[in-house]
Amino acid sequence: MNLTSQQQALLNGAKGPAMAKVVKTLVMYGECFGAERMVPVTGANGHLVTSFGLSMLGPVYDLMDELLEDGALSGQSFSVDPRPLDPAVPANPLQKLLFKIMYSKQGDYEAQLRSMGLLDSDAFTCTCYQPEVGNRPRRGDILSWAESSAVVFANSVLGARCNRNSGIIEMFGSIAGFVPEFGLLTDEGRKATWIIEVDCKRKPEAQVLGSAIGMKVMEDVPYIKGLDRWLGRELTPDTQDYLKDMGAASASNGAVGLYHVDGITPEAVEQGEQLIAPDAQIYRIDDAELERIRSSYPIMWKNPGARPKLAFIGCPHLSSAQLAHWADAICDGLCASGNCRVQVPTVLTAAPSVADAFRKTVAYRRLSTTGTVVSSICPLMYTNNPLCGSMPIITNSNKLRTYSASRYYTDDEVLAYVTTGKPIK
Ligand code: F3S
Repeated sequence: MNLTSQQQALLNGAKGPAMAKVVKTLVMYGECFGAERMVPVTGANGHLVTSFGLSMLGPVYDLMDELLEDGALSGQSFSVDPRPLDPAVPANPLQKLLFKIMYSKQGDYEAQLRSMGLLDSDAFTCTCYQPEVGNRPRRGDILSWAESSAVVFANSVLGARCNRNSGIIEMFGSIAGFVPEFGLLTDEGRKATWIIEVDCKRKPEAQVLGSAIGMKVMEDVPYIKGLDRWLGRELTPDTQDYLKDMGAASASNGAVGLYHVDGITPEAVEQGEQLIAPDAQIYRIDDAELERIRSSYPIMWKNPGARPKLAFIGCPHLSSAQLAHWADAICDGLCASGNCRVQVPTVLTAAPSVADAFRKTVAYRRLSTTGTVVSSICPLMYTNNPLCGSMPIITNSNKLRTYSASRYYTDDEVLAYVTTGKPIK
């Protein structure tokens, strides 16, 4: 690793022992991946993945204390993934007690985050790039993030540059102000080694398409052709929402950190097929392939025929347009089925600032009479314990399906379930 004299001084302890350890860790991390130099982090803000004050994460809190006491603070303000708790989300008394014990360090940890450089008290979301949140990178920014759904969106849709870092390492990049240059930070690492030919007769469900791509290419970079037929050639807010959900599924069902979409995403618009590496492999996706992928998902419920006890919609968090769309769809669906209230307890999740703005609308007033909860919780954090993990939960999120026992349904199927209480035949 070739360090500048300034970076070498930090490594030698010029800004204290904690900063020296931070830099040493980044050097070792970079050397594992063959990085030869550090490059400055240029995004206005960082983003941290560790949002939860789990009682068992003692070493993390000790580490934060050490950094804070030694003045090794983040040079950037940062947003953080969603909080794990929200009393508005349905839970029985035993589950509530468990949350209290599991996340007993939440308040202390959030105080540490504030001292470290938290953007603001509303900055708890995985969709920090939504305009309302205020952490949207620009094209070409070098980031030090770890949240997989945010990394893949920033790289692919915004044209920023970020590796799929781990939690804590990403904070070290924000503290030091530089990150090792390798992988998705380089032109070479952004070349596509897979060509995905989308050849469907109807618009592919974003979450299943992303799942198919992720499971095939794993951590490689795909160049996706044929999606413009369904999405058009403009990066409209609707298209960004589609790509947000597709990308999150590809990042969780596989380990995709960057994709290019022919004619749509910024680098593909600019460089076209020059982004495709020689000898790229080809994967063709048609309706039958999507059906094969969908039917391969295991059903993890103890009783596959159980009536769902909860529906989570919004993992990653919904945009303001998606939130408004779901509110209308639920209200209209209930009217059509002759019901006044949702037939499965339903939680729509969005960033705090997106949810707060929505709570001021007429659509929210209408929705709130149906029993639907609007929250900024992370659904995965909710399910991440034996009591909630064993509940029959339905979701339109392929990420939540992958990391929990929740059962995946398409948007239409989830809507039918929550408005009629029955699955689509
Ligand atoms: Fe976001 Fe939590 Fe899902 S961080 S992507 S809501 S698992």
